[in-house]
Amino acid sequence: MKRNITSLFLVLCVLCVAEQTECYRILAAIVTPSYSHQIPYRALWLELHKRGHEVVYVTTNPIPNINSPNFTQIDISDTYKGIRALNFVETRFNGESWLQMAEEKVASLSIYFAEGMYNNTELKKMYAPDSDAKFDILMTEYLYGPAVLGLAHRFNVPIIGLSSLGLPLINEHILGGQVLPSHESTWEMEANTGPNLPFLKRLWNFVSFWRFMHFLYTEVLSANQQLAEKYLGPLPPLIDIMRNTSMIFVNQASAITPARPQLANVISFTSFHIQDKLPPVPKDLQKFVDGAKNGFIYFSLGSNSRSSHLPVEIQRVFCDTFATLPYRVVWKYEEDFPGKPDNVYTAKWLPQQSILAHPNVKLFIYQGGLQSSEEAIHFGVPVLGFAIFADQDYQVARMEALGIGKRLEIRTVTKDELKSNIIELITNKEYKQRMINTRNLMHDTPYDIVKNLAWWTEHVIRTKGAPHLRSSITFQPWYQRYDLDVIVFLTIVAFLIASSALNLIAKLIVYLHRQISSPQKLKTN
Ligand SMILES: *[C@@H]1O[C@H](CO)[C@@H](O)[C@H](O)[C@H]1NC(C)=O
Ligand SMILES: *[C@@H]1O[C@H](CO)[C@@H](O)[C@H](O)[C@H]1NC(C)=O
Ligand SMILES: *[C@@H]1O[C@H](CO)[C@@H](O)[C@H](O)[C@H]1NC(C)=O
Repeated sequence: MKRNITSLFLVLCVLCVAEQTECYRILAAIVTPSYSHQIPYRALWLELHKRGHEVVYVTTNPIPNINSPNFTQIDISDTYKGIRALNFVETRFNGESWLQMAEEKVASLSIYFAEGMYNNTELKKMYAPDSDAKFDILMTEYLYGPAVLGLAHRFNVPIIGLSSLGLPLINEHILGGQVLPSHESTWEMEANTGPNLPFLKRLWNFVSFWRFMHFLYTEVLSANQQLAEKYLGPLPPLIDIMRNTSMIFVNQASAITPARPQLANVISFTSFHIQDKLPPVPKDLQKFVDGAKNGFIYFSLGSNSRSSHLPVEIQRVFCDTFATLPYRVVWKYEEDFPGKPDNVYTAKWLPQQSILAHPNVKLFIYQGGLQSSEEAIHFGVPVLGFAIFADQDYQVARMEALGIGKRLEIRTVTKDELKSNIIELITNKEYKQRMINTRNLMHDTPYDIVKNLAWWTEHVIRTKGAPHLRSSITFQPWYQRYDLDVIVFLTIVAFLIASSALNLIAKLIVYLHRQISSPQKLKTN
């Protein structure tokens, strides 16, 4: 018996070893200098490393305390310098739309970020023509600037694209997916989408969105091409490299995202960045929240926007309203705060997840960032959203539509409005209950999402780029995609038939008229 068990064990061991996948070399490059663009994928890099793969991670926010010869981090945080002067709160108050902001700033910034990567000394050594560095895959973010993809050509590897928020539609379009400017899943149109929009609104959406796409397809793409070639030498068109994308991992939870047609090689994930072991809260803050007998509100505009950039009169609206509430308030505020009410605690940086996990927290007032929405859902805290930019209008509209939060406009908020919404969200228990239902829905998955993405990554490498999952629509000319040539042809045919028929009828009427009127004329003559 004992021998049988031993041999069974041996067989299992052999099977285990045979099952063991090969060790791959993974090049991960996330060049956007923003905390919320870096943390969503961290769990994936760590999982891939844990599976025995070697990871080279180019990042603006290196993961602390990693000491493994097989996990190299290349720090390109210098590019934070280039965005320090950005003031998203100000652009909100100027009434700039996302498409305007993207045309003015985001497109040129994406080139600046990519240059921060290409010009890095350590990375330069790896991609130099005489370097013998080898990789099996490139994993990089898909936003508005594909310059980084030059590396896929340099190392001759398949690509997995990543998005920390719903995929910008330029990428969807290049890969053969659907572009639906007026559909509620399109965050780039901010609050302009929805079901049953009037014709003129859809017309406006259509024109402004395709104008933007044209700008991306021409100016942005060629600027990216130039930048990549500056460092790598001549390359095939970046758009052709993009068409070869093997897979896209998109941060979007089906529980909170409107359903839409999706390409076969797009895989969703969510809430990777939520930690199991939460960091401790500073001592004085711990005392403050523990002592909140009626509970407390947490208020933060996230890592990219600052409360201290709000106009003074809007800061006063918040301050005066908070002072009249029976709740305590923890406020992420980036400067000193003279005249702060007694029930308010402020700090420059706060351990957000630990605060949202506190049993006394009643409400999260926030800017509608996707990672923050995921945290609110995970910890079951209703939200009050004040969108600032990018996908935030869309996110807070989703929270309201799902009945797990409300949204207000930061430019025009009044004390009465703010107070009544806070009271409603805290005292009406249905918001909390729906939040918990949403969380249960989000957690009800058939597998571990991080391991699932790691498996797909290995699958792409094993299958040399998973070509079977790509859509051939990507290679069709634009007019064939939607059969526009057929529609135009049929329209012309229908027009010709209708106009000849009308012509014929008109002639017939004239003829009959003459026939009827001529004998009369004869008679009177
Ligand atoms: C690093 O990877 C190599 C194979 O590429 C493996 O033999 C080695 O054990 C790994 N080391 C660590 C610390 O994971
Ligand atoms: C590239 O890096 C070098 C230093 O390594 C610096 O002198 C140069 O200005 C950088 N170029 C750009 C375009 O950032
Ligand atoms: C795209 O992939 C195909 C086959 O996998 C390859 O022949 C072609 O050179 C690739 N194109 C680019 C621009 O990388």
